[in-house]
Amino acid sequence: MKNIIAFAGSNSKNSINKELAIYASSLVADVNVNILDLNDFELPLYGIDLEKETGIPDNAHKFLDILKNTDGIILSLAEHNGAYSTAFKNLFDWLTRIEGKMFFNKPMLLMATSPGGRGGLSVLEIAQGRFAFHDATIIEAFSLPFFGNNFSDGKITNEDFDNQLINSVKQFQKQL
Ligand SMILES: Cc1cc2nc3c(=O)[nH]c(=O)nc-3n(C[C@H](O)[C@H](O)[C@H](O)COP(=O)(O)O)c2cc1C
Repeated sequence: MKNIIAFAGSNSKNSINKELAIYASSLVADVNVNILDLNDFELPLYGIDLEKETGIPDNAHKFLDILKNTDGIILSLAEHNGAYSTAFKNLFDWLTRIEGKMFFNKPMLLMATSPGGRGGLSVLEIAQGRFAFHDATIIEAFSLPFFGNNFSDGKITNEDFDNQLINSVKQFQKQL
């Protein structure tokens, strides 16, 4: 059986992106899902001086090993001020110090959601533009706007958005 990981680009304990990532992963048939939480991979704030002084933290190596060994990636990015959350960007920066091409061309379902009407589209666009430089293979990108209105009890309640995600998951599944 294939193994996938699902996680949010957020360190919020109540991350709506983690909820969305978990829901999307539940739609993938016949796979083992490993739900990750960035809080379990705590990292100091990246700095070139810190890296020179203390090297790259174990948690960055651990996360990179997980990326290397998975068959697929479901990632839902939190949007902070139109960009990655600090927690995600920090992880991203540390990982690239070990291996620049840190997505290893694993099929990726890339998502974002937010309470607002753009549903994290700004960070989604940033990631779509950037991740290819790091050997990401983005199969589908999905954004859920107005999370509070469109998601409840662990699933998408709006039928159109739900069908959109189901179709995206089908495409993702085909590439596993
Ligand atoms: C510092 C900060 C900046 C934010 N900026 C944006 C933004 O640019 N666009 C947006 O849609 N939501 C923004 N939000 C709201 C987040 O989308 C919201 O907090 C969401 O829950 C974050 O996802 P998470 O729960 O997965 O961490 C911001 C929130 C914070 C705390």
